[in-house]
Amino acid sequence: MNKLTLALLPTGIRKMERWSAEAGKNIFIKRDDQTGSEWSGNKIRKLEFVAKDALDKGCNLLITCGGIQSNHCRATVAVATYLGMKSAVLLRISETPQVEGNYFLDKLLGADVRFCNREEYSNHRAQIMQEMADGYARQGYRPYIIPEGASFGVGTQGYYYAMKEIAAQEEELGVTFDTVVVATGSGGTAAGLQLSNIINGYGKNVFGVCVCDDEAYFRKICLKCSKDCLPYLIKSGEISRDKAEKTAASLKEEDFSFIEGYVGRGYALSAPEELEHIKRLAQMEATVFDPVYTGKATFGMVNEMKRGGRLESARNILFIHTGGLYGLFPVSREFVF
Ligand SMILES: Cc1ncc(COP(=O)(O)O)c(C=O)c1O
Repeated sequence: MNKLTLALLPTGIRKMERWSAEAGKNIFIKRDDQTGSEWSGNKIRKLEFVAKDALDKGCNLLITCGGIQSNHCRATVAVATYLGMKSAVLLRISETPQVEGNYFLDKLLGADVRFCNREEYSNHRAQIMQEMADGYARQGYRPYIIPEGASFGVGTQGYYYAMKEIAAQEEELGVTFDTVVVATGSGGTAAGLQLSNIINGYGKNVFGVCVCDDEAYFRKICLKCSKDCLPYLIKSGEISRDKAEKTAASLKEEDFSFIEGYVGRGYALSAPEELEHIKRLAQMEATVFDPVYTGKATFGMVNEMKRGGRLESARNILFIHTGGLYGLFPVSREFVF
């Protein structure tokens, strides 16, 4: 594996006893929110590969983008600073932001910050990041641009190997997870999990819960991330060229499954019932989910299980807690106690 060792791995797996009893299914949680502190969450698994690639290419500046409370940006800034690199983030805003949560940490950890509005972010973020990179290059930096969420071929390796970690933990725990569920925001996490599931023949159902966009959108992204990941798996000796070619030829959009219908009021916007759900699980399981990703995803799980949706036949479910805690504090005032 061509990566740095930064995350605290393997992350633990624990059964959520009370939630399981209530749901009538075995629900386990994998604590990828505990991969570290400054770089806590799922993104560090991707960044271990991405930062190594950047260093191998002689780069000394990481540039990436996200929403104002992006966990990915905060983790990228932390990694860059740790490695003695410079960092710059393009953050999407709709109003002048409070210096809090992940944005506060971006500043604290030393990032250069550039803002853009929703339209610029949706339609021109790659171009803006390129302009930023060109500006830094003129100052003598060697920039490396990481696409949104590190959801590209290099980053997809992170959850390819996380799925192998899960398979090893199944042996230790004596449990087989028939279903793996994860929040989906830019697609690379779900892509890596399912690519590994297919290549290694684990036979699990992997579901991303959309916290923005929809299944059709994420299927396209996951197919691209997975295909683009294959050359890296060949390079590191994980799979043969022949296996990669066969996988590339057979992979299709329908191999990737998503649970839709839980975006709620929109990306990063919370509804009262979602916050009530976060509070209820916090008090039931002493486990805190975030409002943007894991709160919506577990809210989706609860509802899918209730209405006999896509989790109906699931028995042993592993939910990957992908972090996001710092994003909870900026919405603390929206909770009702
Ligand atoms: C806490 C958290 N969970 C889940 C996700 C979703 O992961 P991905 O972007 O790979 O779909 C993200 C990032 O978008 C995140 O920050």
